[in-house]
Amino acid sequence: MDVKTLKEKAVAEISSIKSVEDLKRVGTTLLGRKGLFSEYLQELKTVNQEQRKSLGQAINELKGWAEAKLQELEALYKKEEQEQKERESRVDITMPGNRPLLGKAHPITLTFREMERIFSSLGFEVAEGPNIELDYYNFEALNLPKDHPARDMQDTFYVAPGVVLRTHTSPVQIRVMERQLPPIRIIAPGAVYRHDQDISHTPMFHQVEGLMVDRNVRFSDLKGILTIFLHEMFGENVPLRFRPSYFPFTEPSAEVDIGCVICGGKGCRVCKETGWLEILGSGMVHPEVFRIVGYDPEEVSGFAFGMGVERIAMIKYGIDDIKQFYYNDVRFLAQF
Ligand code: PHE
Repeated sequence: MDVKTLKEKAVAEISSIKSVEDLKRVGTTLLGRKGLFSEYLQELKTVNQEQRKSLGQAINELKGWAEAKLQELEALYKKEEQEQKERESRVDITMPGNRPLLGKAHPITLTFREMERIFSSLGFEVAEGPNIELDYYNFEALNLPKDHPARDMQDTFYVAPGVVLRTHTSPVQIRVMERQLPPIRIIAPGAVYRHDQDISHTPMFHQVEGLMVDRNVRFSDLKGILTIFLHEMFGENVPLRFRPSYFPFTEPSAEVDIGCVICGGKGCRVCKETGWLEILGSGMVHPEVFRIVGYDPEEVSGFAFGMGVERIAMIKYGIDDIKQFYYNDVRFLAQF
């Protein structure tokens, strides 16, 4: 029985340890159930009584030493591992931060703003009215009595008897004239509602109304203001066409077209081969409307107009489906 060899082997094994894996392996080789020390202790049985005691003591001392050494190494590796983990989780304050995703204004909002910018440069102020409107303001006071056939074009949602979701922004004209005297120069932006749905119509959409009332406001003023607006909005060179039309609350009435911005007037799918895009309704305020709000039609005159914001935004930005405005797909919205 050679304790010296045992010692050499144990020392050699322990000094060969370079990693946690080595540590585990050596632990088994030396101290495992079938390890080197067990083997030696087993062998003790074959030695005689006198030698057994001192050899046993020497082996056990050596075993104690090996155990302590391995524990020491284990503690060391644990500490290193812990430090490594801490290094990895530490925040590097010199790294660039994460930029928060910023929202953008909706294209309808952008179009509203652009329209408000142009009209305020012409002296128009912004007025607003309720979306849930009395039949009186939405129809009656605009010279659209009950059973008037023109009501058919603006079929709407009835909230209660005599109460509707407004079909246009024109009721704001009445509300403004009821509470103030001329001179008046307002635009009224907002949502409107109709029983309508296809590629270019949704049950809710937006309009901007305009109203100017003063002494001696003439059709040429209407033409001048709308020409300035449309040229600012669509470019100096866009051709305009004032076309006779009918609205119960204006007389005479005109619809205004711009030359098709898609085909340049040659005719295409968007302008339905006409070369023109209908952009707004307008006219001189009907004397009956003035009478209803208590103005004297002999004293004052004025013009009004109304236009669809989605339609203008679609033309301006080249959008071919009105529903794109309402899907709220950020890939669409981020483009404006
Ligand atoms: N309110 C009309 C519409 O929605 C547009 C319009 C407004 C026409 C003002 C004339 C004057 O169709």
